[in-house]
Amino acid sequence: MTSAQDFKKQVIYQIVTDRFYNGDTSNDNPPQSAGLFDSTQTNWQAYWGGDLAGILQKMSYIKGMGVTAIWISPTVDNENKNLNSTLPISAPYHGYSARDFMRVEEHFGDISNSWTAFDNMVAAAHQNGIKVIVDWANNHTNYNGGGEYGALYNNGVFMASDSNDPNGYFHHNPGIADFNDRYQLQYFTLESLEDLNQENTTIDGYLKAAIHQFQTHGADGFRLDAIKHVTWGWEYSLANSVFNQAPAFLYGEWYSNDQYDPLYHDAYKFANKSGISELDFGLNTAVRDVFASNNNFSEIDGTISTENSNFTWNNDLVTFFDSHDESRMLTLNNNNNRLQEAMAFLLTCRGIPVILYGDEQYLHNDTSGGNDPYNRIWMKSFDTTTTAYQLINKLASLRQSANDALAYGGFQQRWINGDVYIYERKFFNDVVLVAINKNDTTGYAISGLFTALPSGTYSDYLGGLLGGSNLTVTTGSGGNNPANNFMLPAHTVAVWQAVGTPAAPEVGSIGPTVGQPGMNVTIAGKGFGASIGQVLFGTTAAATQSWSDTSVTFTVPKVGNGIYQVQLKNTTGTAGNTIQFTVLTGQLIPVTFTVNNATPTTLGDYIFLTGSTIELGNWSTTFDTAIGPMLDPNYPNWFLNVSLPAGTQVQFKFIKIAANGTVTWENGANHQYTVPSSGTAYVNVNWQY
Ligand code: NOJ
Ligand code: NOJ
Repeated sequence: MTSAQDFKKQVIYQIVTDRFYNGDTSNDNPPQSAGLFDSTQTNWQAYWGGDLAGILQKMSYIKGMGVTAIWISPTVDNENKNLNSTLPISAPYHGYSARDFMRVEEHFGDISNSWTAFDNMVAAAHQNGIKVIVDWANNHTNYNGGGEYGALYNNGVFMASDSNDPNGYFHHNPGIADFNDRYQLQYFTLESLEDLNQENTTIDGYLKAAIHQFQTHGADGFRLDAIKHVTWGWEYSLANSVFNQAPAFLYGEWYSNDQYDPLYHDAYKFANKSGISELDFGLNTAVRDVFASNNNFSEIDGTISTENSNFTWNNDLVTFFDSHDESRMLTLNNNNNRLQEAMAFLLTCRGIPVILYGDEQYLHNDTSGGNDPYNRIWMKSFDTTTTAYQLINKLASLRQSANDALAYGGFQQRWINGDVYIYERKFFNDVVLVAINKNDTTGYAISGLFTALPSGTYSDYLGGLLGGSNLTVTTGSGGNNPANNFMLPAHTVAVWQAVGTPAAPEVGSIGPTVGQPGMNVTIAGKGFGASIGQVLFGTTAAATQSWSDTSVTFTVPKVGNGIYQVQLKNTTGTAGNTIQFTVLTGQLIPVTFTVNNATPTTLGDYIFLTGSTIELGNWSTTFDTAIGPMLDPNYPNWFLNVSLPAGTQVQFKFIKIAANGTVTWENGANHQYTVPSSGTAYVNVNWQY
């Protein structure tokens, strides 16, 4: 297995555990939460019996599909009571209503809330080369208007609830009314779910210990729920603590990080700096529009080019077109060709693709527009002969082992009209060319196509599964070789590919993307050579822990904090391409800064923080590089939670960045502060006039 930090070669299969397979009937109706199970599977808000033992029992089905990772719905112990005892069952079968992050939910494991079923499932997954991603919802506990009223436990010991919270574990603010207000998003209540206060030292320690426990039990990654609603600065320290514990891949649900969202800039700034990648909502919308609603391919093409210019690690974006939060594509357009074309696109596009369980069986329930909960269907068939199942298998193998262009390559449009999209993925001399015609009845004559594939004749990598045939390429110049004219029939996907031989190290991935000296980091790619070479931070070489032709794990050296272009050299001294990595000053802990009576601002101006280390922006003064915008619920006082290097003395100042970018510094000497060595902290100063 490749290291868990590099997920770009993975294909992820998303499972709503309760709806997948019932592997253990003894946990169907557990005593501590009796009455939340519906054996008839007619109440869509009840538990239906799927569990971790069920996932284990279907592991060969999952492996046979070629997927190499599963993303499972939250498995922590969820609230035990019906939300309203006078109503029919309303249960947290989905997992987003935690009561105890230290234990496993009894409906998914066993009635003692033990880890046995989780451990067995993870062991089976790992034996089959499958990584396990756990959905992690640490913005909130459970419903605060009924049931257990938000109650939180630590391994069975009561900590607090909405009405009994003497230590400030929760925020107790109203529901979010303005989803474009940075303060409300992070500090108000989402969907009546009791909002955790991550800046509280006890909660900070509790949540980090809980996620570490999942790592100890073998979780390889986490899908971080609702990251736009968790204190942004705190999440940097969460990521850092996860990476310090063990290799992991993190991606978050920043709904909706598409280019039209008013907080789009905040969304990609977060992905570029925190070490947490994101689900690609922009592409989700575009793929659904194009393949289900028949929009032109220009929508996908434009979305990719915009996002690629904003997201530094665009190959780490996690791509999907269906999820447990939206109607399935087959509900929008009941056309299996279109579903398969969308799958083929996703599996060959840049980013790490997710397939929602049941799509490979063409399952959908169209009640109420097929929205939540009707998209969380029961997995009633496990047929390994469907075209979709075969398609996923072939393209997963292409991504995992046959051609590095899918995982690490760039993305270039080569030919486009409303119905046809031909694009190329290229990583040095590894090339994958994909042609899709989504029109169900009309074929198109393709002429004037150029490709980086070398001259020759290529057979369709899918073996004609979706109608593709051969492509012949002749010699051109500058990486633009002419393809012979050909006919792309109706509803066809063809994939042609070639693999090159590296002349120097070819670096495609680094993970994590941020960490302090002493943290282990993995670089992946090809052509590194069998013997140990060097990983260089400027002129400083890192100590290597392991070295193979495709993967090197090293320890971040003791160099000054800042952004580095890391370079790998093979044993004979041949240098590869560089890749960006941020060296932190130290392990991160959350610190909340307040500046009172800041300089006057007008609409569109914001106060930011900047200071002496990379965690504080190294005195930089732009939206992307300074720390902020700060939040002003108590205007003209501003505050912000920031993750800072523990035990380090820092200097800082507050600045105003006006709407037009003009920067105003506060006067006086720099503020000075020594970050504590653990816990959480607060700093409160006055703007210096
Ligand atoms: C987003 C999840 O995907 C959704 O299903 C859930 O209800 C909310 N976050 C709250 O946790
Ligand atoms: C430049 C700013 O003008 C000043 O106010 C600040 O103190 C320094 N950067 C940082 O040393």
